Amino acid sequence: MNRSNKIFNIFKLSKNKKKDIYIEKLKFNEYDLNPVMSPDTIKYHYGKLAKGYAQRYNDGIGDSDFNEAGVFLHNIFFSQLCSPKRTNKPSGAVLKIIEDNFNSFDNFKEVFKKEAMKIQGSGWIYLSKDGSIKVINNHKIKKDIAFLIDWWEHAWALDYQHDKESYLDNMWRIINWELINNRIY
Ligand SMILES: [Fe+2]
Repeated sequence: MNRSNKIFNIFKLSKNKKKDIYIEKLKFNEYDLNPVMSPDTIKYHYGKLAKGYAQRYNDGIGDSDFNEAGVFLHNIFFSQLCSPKRTNKPSGAVLKIIEDNFNSFDNFKEVFKKEAMKIQGSGWIYLSKDGSIKVINNHKIKKDIAFLIDWWEHAWALDYQHDKESYLDNMWRIINWELINNRIY
């Protein structure tokens, strides 16, 4: 390669290099979601896997769109969680979206579970800001997420083994609905 080609390639690389991306710091500690989500799952899922997507994106390893979307989705997922509550019901704007489209929170949970159980392979399921339940295969950036559930096996297998229905049933206890409302506005 001659010198001018080399300079051109270096220029091209630096021009194409996107900004580094990061997994956001958790607003809770790793014991706070127990027993819905164990410290071991948080260490593994958040500490290793989610951060791994950011690391690989920043290092230019693998599919950058996949890694970028992985970071985007995990930042939404982990930021919407809070300590388990005995009763944890949606209110405000998100409740209106749910009631307008599914009549009641109980009915919504049933439909959401039915759709989640149809997913084959790795993916995510979410309520969109306009009141639809949508599925994401693998990882993709979506701008209309009200809240979402990580349906990849790594999200539930350590705590629930094969029983992903129980994972979803329990997840309702740790959704921070106030934060979801702020996201919707
Ligand atoms: Fe995940």
